Amino acid sequence: MEIVEETYLIHRYWGKKLTSYHFSNRPTLKKRTFAAAPNNEKPEISPEFLPFELPFAHQGDFRSPALQIEQKNCETITRFSYQGYEIVDGAPELTDLPHARNTEEQAQTLIVYLFDEIAQIEVALYYTIFAESSVIVRSTSVKNAGSETVKVTKLLSASLDTRYDGQVSTTFYGTHQKEFQLNRQEIQHGMFKIGSSRGASSPQYPPYLALSKDANEFQGEVHAMTLIYSGNHETALELDQYNHLRLQIGLNSETFAWQLHSGETLQSPQAVLSYSDLGFNGSSQSFHQFFTDHLIHPAWKNKARPVLINSWEMTYYDVNEALIKQLIDSASELGFETVVLDDGWYSKRNSSKTSLGDWAVDGEKFPNGIKPLVEYAKEKGLGFGIWFEPEMISPNTKLIQQHPDWVMRSANYEPILGRSQLVLDLTNPDVQQFIIHTLSQAIEDFGVNYVKWDMNRHLTDPFSQRGDFPAFEYGHRYMLGLYRIIDALTSTYPEVLFENCSSGGGRLDVGMLYYFPQTWISDNTDGLDRQEIQSGASNLFPISSMTGHVSDVPNHQTNRTVPFETRAALASSTNMGYEMDIIHLNEAEKEMIRQHLQTYKAERELIMQGQFYRLLSPFEGNLCAWLFTDKAQEQAIVYVFRNRYQVFDLSLLVKIPYLDEDGMYQIVGTDQVYSGSELAHCGLALDNKKGDFAVQKITLKKMESE
Ligand code: GLA
Repeated sequence: MEIVEETYLIHRYWGKKLTSYHFSNRPTLKKRTFAAAPNNEKPEISPEFLPFELPFAHQGDFRSPALQIEQKNCETITRFSYQGYEIVDGAPELTDLPHARNTEEQAQTLIVYLFDEIAQIEVALYYTIFAESSVIVRSTSVKNAGSETVKVTKLLSASLDTRYDGQVSTTFYGTHQKEFQLNRQEIQHGMFKIGSSRGASSPQYPPYLALSKDANEFQGEVHAMTLIYSGNHETALELDQYNHLRLQIGLNSETFAWQLHSGETLQSPQAVLSYSDLGFNGSSQSFHQFFTDHLIHPAWKNKARPVLINSWEMTYYDVNEALIKQLIDSASELGFETVVLDDGWYSKRNSSKTSLGDWAVDGEKFPNGIKPLVEYAKEKGLGFGIWFEPEMISPNTKLIQQHPDWVMRSANYEPILGRSQLVLDLTNPDVQQFIIHTLSQAIEDFGVNYVKWDMNRHLTDPFSQRGDFPAFEYGHRYMLGLYRIIDALTSTYPEVLFENCSSGGGRLDVGMLYYFPQTWISDNTDGLDRQEIQSGASNLFPISSMTGHVSDVPNHQTNRTVPFETRAALASSTNMGYEMDIIHLNEAEKEMIRQHLQTYKAERELIMQGQFYRLLSPFEGNLCAWLFTDKAQEQAIVYVFRNRYQVFDLSLLVKIPYLDEDGMYQIVGTDQVYSGSELAHCGLALDNKKGDFAVQKITLKKMESE
């Protein structure tokens, strides 16, 4: 960074580590007609083309601002100038937002202060770096040091100006059952913007953007960013007339504004920026490592997650005591470690149309309650989990009769249903308390050690009937309410494993990852679609945080039939479970599942705690390949998925880098031995077996050197 004219905080470089920096890339500036210049003697110094660390409105920079503040009479002019900086040890601990955790890894935070003397507003820009992680954590805070209330109408977490150099952008898009689809495109002049106004980070455009040039999975520079936040967000890319690029990420400015009273401070969510010169695998490695070390709760970091059986696709809402008992018996016989009772266990919940909010156990389905089942599971050495959708309320519930004012809605409009349900007003402290109490009671009374936290609709009617704050604050206040609830629950019950879910990946973001160490990333368990969903999501999420289930065929979402081996390999490439009828199986099927679980358990540590790399992209063709290896590169598992059988492919070839090129590797179960360098550069030829949706698993072991 540089301070220009003792006023402007200017961006100079973000990338590969330098030995030292002496402004070699400082561009020449030239006077331009229409370019406003605060100092008439220096017309070449215009905000129009300065690369700002914090662009703000109406000072001559006509690109998108990162901060906008409305004062009296709706005036939105501000003039921030550089005040000073400090460097403090550690990473900032935000009180009401998920954030990068301090650990033993050395961290330092640069805080740069800017001030507007007229408006009496102070801005602090935070930049935290870590000794071993190639990321920068950025955020912005605004303090009202004046006496009048102001309205913050835009507050981004990070804004970054750089030169356009032919880079392409990478983002993801998606929908329910098809999350994290790759979108790589050329950058055009103008603005490209993704985001969410759905009240959740959403599968539509998750908060992620990467800039890269001539990069692929293995090489090239990748600058990527994401946001530690789960609500409305925006990510923008602007290419201007001078071929300057501006990247921005933060709260969605169309759905957000905040009243800032005298003396108050508003803190933005944190953005995580990662730089890699080792392609997209390098970029995801940095994110994986950083989220594992600094975001996931340390108690879950290296803890083996249970292999579970979930009741949902077995019988949907049709669950009862006898069935779950049988499920426990079968689970224990086959080698599962946890049984999860999904939706349908409470107050006549026989379809999606009823009962959310009335969390009493359904007496007909479970006459003895849930506790005896949890105990029965415990006797058999199994954990027990239960499904909740705590943020929701169904019409026609006792809860809505008792507390009609708890529904998120305005007085003027009938609230809109989604999946037949309404949303609770999480900005209301009574609602927050109700949810904390309901969940605490279930955890304590039932004795469950796993909770699947679902959220099956997005937000319409963002309004609190309490009317004690302006409606433009609603979306962010909802998130603060949610974070308060889940912070309380996860701190009180650190031993309970919470799984994040929003019809799969409807709120799949690293904000939720701070509280819930794993997410059900998609309702789609299909053996073809999952290749794309898991490949896409792995650009950000460590394997331990993504759950995947083996389900029945024909697949319930796509009606496609994919061989068991392939479905098992896909689930085995995640934090694994099953979701199908395991009660009515023949002996051969039982044996197949038993074998699968045994193998997965033996490989679990490598899969969950090892390094994960994408080798072949399902977005580019008929093949998808992934590699798992340990840090010491002594063992590795490669999965190669070949979808359509093509007669003209005599054999398949997969290159396996990321092993020790000087070492020799044996394919386990065979006498084939290859050098690490030939696996990386010549590749491994595989038989192109007949039949669609085939998988090949290659397990490699490094040989002792003589
Ligand atoms: C959502 C979840 C599913 C299941 C159902 C229950 O769709 O993603 O896994 O829990 O809700 O209603």
